[in-house]
Amino acid sequence: MNSESVQAELAEPYLAGVLSSAGLDAEYVRAEGNTLYRRGPDEQEIPVIDFAGGYGSLLFGHNNPEIVDCARRLLDDRVPVHAQFSLHSGANELARSLNRIVHRELGTTEPYFAIFANSGAEAVEAAMKCAELDRVLKVKAVADEIAANIEHARSAVHDGLAEVADDAWARFGHAPANTQDDRFDAVTHGIAAHNAGQLARPPVFLALEGGFHGKLVGSVQLSHNEDYRSPFAALAASARFVPRDRPEMLKQTADQERGVLLDVVVHGGVVRVVEREIPMVCAMLVEPIQGEGGIHELSRADAEVIQQVCAAIDCPIVVDEIQAGLGRTGAFLASSQIGLRGDYYVFAKSLGGGIAKTAAMLVREGRYRREFEMLHSSTFAKDGFSTPIALKVLAMLEAEEGKAYRLAEERGAALRRALDAIQADFPDVVKDVRGRGLMLGLEFRDQSAAASPAVREVAATGFLGYVLCGYLLRRHDIRTFPTASAVHTLRFEPSLLLTDGEIHRLDTALRDVCGVLADPAGTVA
Ligand SMILES: Cc1ncc(COP(=O)(O)O)c(C=O)c1O
Repeated sequence: MNSESVQAELAEPYLAGVLSSAGLDAEYVRAEGNTLYRRGPDEQEIPVIDFAGGYGSLLFGHNNPEIVDCARRLLDDRVPVHAQFSLHSGANELARSLNRIVHRELGTTEPYFAIFANSGAEAVEAAMKCAELDRVLKVKAVADEIAANIEHARSAVHDGLAEVADDAWARFGHAPANTQDDRFDAVTHGIAAHNAGQLARPPVFLALEGGFHGKLVGSVQLSHNEDYRSPFAALAASARFVPRDRPEMLKQTADQERGVLLDVVVHGGVVRVVEREIPMVCAMLVEPIQGEGGIHELSRADAEVIQQVCAAIDCPIVVDEIQAGLGRTGAFLASSQIGLRGDYYVFAKSLGGGIAKTAAMLVREGRYRREFEMLHSSTFAKDGFSTPIALKVLAMLEAEEGKAYRLAEERGAALRRALDAIQADFPDVVKDVRGRGLMLGLEFRDQSAAASPAVREVAATGFLGYVLCGYLLRRHDIRTFPTASAVHTLRFEPSLLLTDGEIHRLDTALRDVCGVLADPAGTVA
């Protein structure tokens, strides 16, 4: 390697340029609680209050001492981090603990089996694969029955016990056929061609507009943002999206995807062709609160419609709790607060306590196919370091009769009050404040007609949200970002440790931003 390339920026260099143009090119050297530290020009540490919270991964804050101690003990004890394909009582204890909490919140006792993963998208893809395996095996069972029915009918025709119905012959018969055997062959060729076409169709997923479920090859197709999705559309099964406030459209959408195989029945000496429905919709993906789509809560009424439609079409629901779940909104499952019940749950982010990279997918016994465990694996999933840390996270959430959940609600309400007051004071600048618990968003109005030419100019680039975050960082030492697919909405997902002082700092900073946006001479550069 020549010395020039050693000096060059090689780790996602384009991104580094984007960060720099938005004024977000800070490097952090230390972190604790809600604070990240960066170095100033004379090497002193500058504390920055972190409202981005690792995109919602830091419910217990950066380097939480209890979690750090747990990690340290594991390393000191030389736990086997990687002992794949062996028994793992820690993972089992984690799965049992997840079940205890989920059962309590859902009021059920049906077991949920756990598959572990390394990231949110990987857990989503495990759910996609598990749901597809279930669908494929159901389709195969129908196809096998059809094959057996055809053989049974063939014998009946051959033995002179049955004749091909005229309408079946009219549908498929082309060449002259002298015998009933010939007619039967023509009909079964037609059936085979139709069924092959149906069986070759890819499955489809259902999802809501604005939803985000990851950026890997499969999960990105379930994420609504077209920029992320469309370049890779050829790589995986696709989703049909319905507006998040029109979930009743799911029924009509699923009907359009209906899959039908043709079968034969022998009745009263006549062979008839009948239709057999096969599942084409693999699963419905839903976030109880859309995170990257701009912090939009799913209403209880819409959740009920989703539940009813999915039950009617026998479509499993995958509840994506990756960002909203694990206590952030005041309950372990944000979906339990709106009465939504999943066949699958996916968790990641805060499950690793801000230290480990871990994720889990739960699937209800009634939907589970045990064969999945022999078909799916991941080298680093279910390892001996991350599972005890995740177990520690659950213990911390559940401690003192769920003090953490109450704290999320209470701290979230305090933050919400501050954001609501800003909206009330700057109604021409702030369009909306949304969310629940410690998952809040503040949406700015479109600034393309702002009083200030400088603000208008930045708004025209589409990067205003990021530039405002750069301003918050430079002027106020506050860190946050826009949500990825709704860039006029700033996200606030701090830890449970959020203090009134930190809320006050944010309040001052956001009021300054609102003042700048409203000022004809305002500039955010
Ligand atoms: C709701 C939701 N699902 C899935 C993901 C993907 O998780 P990861 O980035 O760990 O792959 C995210 C990440 O932001 C998310 O918010």
